[in-house]
Formats: sequence, structure tokens, C-alpha cells
Amino acid sequence: MIEATWAKLASERAEILRGLHTYADKAFVPIMEDDSAGVLANCVAEVRPSRILEIGTAIGYSGLLMLSVAEGATLTTIDIDEARVDVARCAFEAAGEMQNVHIILDDAAYVLPMLEKPFDFILLDGPKGQYQAMLPDLLRLLTPEGMIFVDDTAYLGLVDNGEYPVHKHRTIVVNMRKFIQTINEDERLLVKTYATSSGVVTIQKRKELWNC
Ligand SMILES: C[S@@+](CC[C@H](N)C(=O)[O-])C[C@H]1O[C@@H](n2cnc3c(N)ncnc32)[C@H](O)[C@@H]1O
Repeated sequence: MIEATWAKLASERAEILRGLHTYADKAFVPIMEDDSAGVLANCVAEVRPSRILEIGTAIGYSGLLMLSVAEGATLTTIDIDEARVDVARCAFEAAGEMQNVHIILDDAAYVLPMLEKPFDFILLDGPKGQYQAMLPDLLRLLTPEGMIFVDDTAYLGLVDNGEYPVHKHRTIVVNMRKFIQTINEDERLLVKTYATSSGVVTIQKRKELWNC
């Protein structure tokens, strides 16, 4: 499926994405699953964003994929892992996108409250236990027509299995369940669920119910 997504891009760009995909496999970097990345590309094509925010740069794979679909867009991307961000910087440079990218090497929980300018596409693919805490800032930063794309909402199949979570994953699973419940109960939000291997949810504002 992801080959079909890459095939729509210029061949040089597809080659860089393929290289990042291979690197991630070899170096055990957790980039997006192929089916979720395919849904991401479709969502970006639908929204046609000009300003993208990403929480969870890793090695730049999803960031570069989004920039490849949203021609002319800018990307602000945050990650806490310096070694991964170094690889991402090389990838953005190789793709000739560095002038469109602002990489922030820091804890997203610290950075998000300080961001002010709005974004029309937000990819949330960072610290899985903190999505609930980040939600108010993400909604504040989202334009009325924008979309928040959340990856890993199924978290290893543990979120929706109805079981008490094992100790090792408890914080993430409990917080992810709270996050899913919060967005589904907020009538101001339009929430769509995609049954990909990692679990994807998209969130949009119902403009008529949104005061600010
Ligand atoms: C699943 S990976 C992101 C993959 C990437 N979106 C892709 O598909 O190419 C999650 C990333 O979130 C980063 N991360 C974890 N906690 C973070 C935090 N508190 N602030 C910023 N980044 C964080 C990790 O370093 C990791 O690179």
C-alpha cells in the first residue's frame, strides 16, 4: 500500500522516503505503519494544509511524507531525541525542504503551550501517554478548517480490548482510553476512526459549535 503512495510522488522524493523506511527497520526506529502512513497521505491531500505541526519527528519520515503531499507547506516538528532529529535534518536537506522546516529539539509538553500561530494540520505521534494533556493546546492551535491526525490510538491492541492494562503499559493505556473518551464526548468535535494496524483517529472542529 505504501508503495502506491510513494509512486504518486517524484521519484527522487520516493527514494528518500524508501531509504528512511529501510533505515527505520534496521535501526529499530518506530516510524508510522504503512497502512497508517497511507491514510495520513490521503488526509493531508484532503486538507491541503499550508502550516503543519508534527509532534514526534523521529527521523523525518512522516514529516517528509506530509511535505511531499502538501506542496508549498511549512512544517514545524518537535522531538526530544537528538540522534533521531539529526537523521531527520539530513533527510529534509537531501529533499531540499530545509527552508520549509522548523525542527524543535525539546519536550513537546514544554513547547506546545508556547506556540501561538495556528496550524491547519497537526500530526500527533509523540509521547503516547500525554495526548490527553496536550489536547487543549492542540485544539487552541488548530484552525477552524484544520485536522488533527492521531496515530497509535490502538496502542499495541491494548486500548480497546476491555481488559485491565498490564503494569508495563498501564499509564499509556489508561491515558489513551481517557483521550479517546474525551474527544468522542466533545460534541464540538468531529471524530473519525480508521482501523489501521496502529489505530488512527482524526479530529476536526464542528465550526458551527466552536466559539473561538
Ligand atoms: C512513533 S515516533 C514518531 C514517528 C514519526 N512520526 C514517523 O512516523 O516518521 C515517536 C517520537 O516521539 C518522540 N517523543 C517521545 N516523547 C516525546 C516528548 N515528550 N516530546 C517530544 N518528542 C517525544 C520520540 O523521540 C519518537 O521519535
